[in-house]
Amino acid sequence: MLDGKKTLFSGMQATGNLTLGNYLGALKNWVGIADEYQTFYSVVDMHSITVRQDPAELRKRARTLLTLYIAAGLDPEKNCIYYQSHVSGHAELAWILNCFTYMGELNRMTQFKDKAAKHADNINAGLFTYPVLMAADILLYQADVVPVGIDQKQHLEITRDIAMRFNSVYGDVFTIPEVYIGKSGAKIMSLQDPLKKMSKSDENPNSSIYLMDDPDTIIRKCKRAVTDSEAVVRYSEEQPGIKNLIDIYCSCLDKTPAETEREFDGKGYGEFKTAVGEAVVSVLKPLQDRFADLTKNKDYLDGVIKTNAEKAAYFSNKTLRKVQKKVGFPERIR
Ligand code: TYM
Repeated sequence: MLDGKKTLFSGMQATGNLTLGNYLGALKNWVGIADEYQTFYSVVDMHSITVRQDPAELRKRARTLLTLYIAAGLDPEKNCIYYQSHVSGHAELAWILNCFTYMGELNRMTQFKDKAAKHADNINAGLFTYPVLMAADILLYQADVVPVGIDQKQHLEITRDIAMRFNSVYGDVFTIPEVYIGKSGAKIMSLQDPLKKMSKSDENPNSSIYLMDDPDTIIRKCKRAVTDSEAVVRYSEEQPGIKNLIDIYCSCLDKTPAETEREFDGKGYGEFKTAVGEAVVSVLKPLQDRFADLTKNKDYLDGVIKTNAEKAAYFSNKTLRKVQKKVGFPERIR
């Protein structure tokens, strides 16, 4: 609880081109519930270097991501939007929490297994302890709730386990966070293989809609989406391609699958796919326009970056000092 409101923390990696999955699974929900909470939205650039990055590219993507948070509708006066690497408490708490996390727990993380398989030449210790840094992000702000897509659920579970373990030794130091998964869009699938998650790192650009895709590209990708030969717009596990398109449609227009089935009853896939493309354009086009406006205002963005890093540092230090004292680090002399 900060300033009488419950606290919310979430973050996104500044790696690759953001996809519609990131928007519908996370960013859109962030905007929807921001007013109810004291919020911290981080561009988690420290997480990004667990796989090799081009430094100039990472810097550029981090700024793009931070700007996108604002363009999506998060007012940086009310929401603390900042770069993780600007607040040293993340790394400091992560170290302490590393000492309260077991190798066995980390070994079970599916994201680690996936990434290790993908980057077999660079299975570094950071990749392995990535969930601990994520736990530090969340616990540093005493977050009550963490809105994410389904793929991050396991990381939230280990965060809770680490927090409870620490609390069982030292008393009520950390708030135990709850995961918040949105009603729709929590797992947007690839347009080319609807059994696979839509992902920034997919090599086939037709698999994903990128947040910066222009309207024609978006419509074309939707029209090319892999579906089936049932020719019925039905929300069913047996039709994963159509199910995914219904999820996208519902999430963009705040409709339910049942409403969508009724709307497209007796209509063909061609018509439905075009409607999905138009629904996506209706949410992404305004975002892209606001993004373009914001990038013109360098001083404004620099101001946001500076002020919010200070704000994040202020709140995170409160937790960090408490934790340092609990584990027995000597008091600072003032
Ligand atoms: P990242 O950067 O991979 O993804 C950012 C957010 O987007 C969601 N997401 C999706 N949702 C629905 N469908 C998809 N296809 C899809 N792809 C991605 C993710 O679930 C996530 O919410 N480890 C995190 C970043 C992180 C973090 C944190 C998140 C670091 N520290 C603390 C919350 C709290 C990650 O890699 O997300």
